Amino acid sequence: MKNFGIKTNIYFGEGSLEYLQNIKGKKVFVVTDPFMVKSGTINKITDNLIGREYEVFSDIVPDPPIELVVSGIEKIGKFNPDTIVALGGGSAIDAAKAIMDFSKKIVNIKEIEFIAIPTTSGTGSEVTSFAVITDKEKGIKYPLVSDELLPNSAILDPELVKSAPDFITADTGMDVLTHAIEAYVSKNATDFSDALAEKAVSLVFKYLIRAYKDGNDMEAREKMHNASCLAGLAFNAASLGINHSIAHVLGGKFHIPHGRTNAILLPHVIEYNANISGYTSTNYSITANKYSNLAKIVGLSNSNIRGNVKSLVNEIKKMQKNMNMPTTLSECGIKSDEVLKVKNEIAEIAIKDACTITNPRTPNDIEIIDILQKIK
Ligand SMILES: NC(=O)c1ccc[n+]([C@@H]2O[C@H](COP(=O)([O-])OP(=O)(O)OC[C@H]3O[C@@H](n4cnc5c(N)ncnc54)[C@H](O)[C@@H]3O)[C@@H](O)[C@H]2O)c1
Ligand SMILES: [Fe+2]
Repeated sequence: MKNFGIKTNIYFGEGSLEYLQNIKGKKVFVVTDPFMVKSGTINKITDNLIGREYEVFSDIVPDPPIELVVSGIEKIGKFNPDTIVALGGGSAIDAAKAIMDFSKKIVNIKEIEFIAIPTTSGTGSEVTSFAVITDKEKGIKYPLVSDELLPNSAILDPELVKSAPDFITADTGMDVLTHAIEAYVSKNATDFSDALAEKAVSLVFKYLIRAYKDGNDMEAREKMHNASCLAGLAFNAASLGINHSIAHVLGGKFHIPHGRTNAILLPHVIEYNANISGYTSTNYSITANKYSNLAKIVGLSNSNIRGNVKSLVNEIKKMQKNMNMPTTLSECGIKSDEVLKVKNEIAEIAIKDACTITNPRTPNDIEIIDILQKIK
């Protein structure tokens, strides 16, 4: 038996922040990062909380470490709110998820309304049961997975993404594309997750470069914000694959932004999963057929499946080039020998990552190392 459900109520479009005026809660704990306070974005939230008591915890940093979650738990324990609002990128939303979940167990916080307000069009964390927390000392990212982490509501206001600089738009936008593509070829994909993933992929192909080139293009911002959420819904249902497994390890070890690491890996993971190089038969795998289908959906149709997969890979490479993105780890300042020194360890951890289970092709150490050789 399979199941598909959406627990989170989604409010979207310009003006959607007004939903905050209707919440039942009287005591609101806001989890965010320092940029949101410095830039004044936080006022767009607090202006809608008139008549309610609120406290702002604004210490969140990218790839939130365990220590930060512990400090958030102390603060929330003292304030004892009935509502938690996460404002920011995946890091703020994930940190809020972990703070909320652990505080229920540790400081006896009762049932709490959880509202996620993304300011990047990237992780889709506002609708997922995942949170990624980093152990800085060990250099490992831990994905927490539980339906308890799902926000009750998500507010997608494209106005909040306008301030994202072009390189953040590029990194986070490629994260959206990776979520949608990995969900689409996942072993757990269904007609429901496919519908969400297909729409997300076509929105990214149409609007990401526009949002990158002009951050004030509100149509592109809105479409990318929706794409991010749709891709989040897709992978929440179908899960991900080895692109994310390897990205989790590389992110923990080398501190490259999550979406940038995914983008570097994506063409190589598609080629590995499609498994078409040197293939002479026309009996391609279901995975190759699915990539080919995506190519058709975004208008890259070629005469055959092999050509379609290649066109998809080439188009992704073209997008990376158009957004001045690095295509290797060395272009991100990581020396090749640093990567090769830990290649066995990276492969071992990536294989054990929860996302590997649903990858359409089951990798071994040598195959993961082969991908690392291509991106080093
Ligand atoms: N929970 C999930 O389902 C899920 C999925 C994928 C990734 N992740 C995790 O999410 C994290 C990455 O999140 P992210 O890519 O959204 O980035 P982020 O939250 O780490 O933010 C990156 C930077 O962008 C800045 N920023 C955010 N919004 C901005 C805006 N509107 N204007 C200007 N600056 C802005 C932040 O201040 C920060 O400096 C990683 O830890 C990753 O592992 C979680
Ligand atoms: Fe991601």
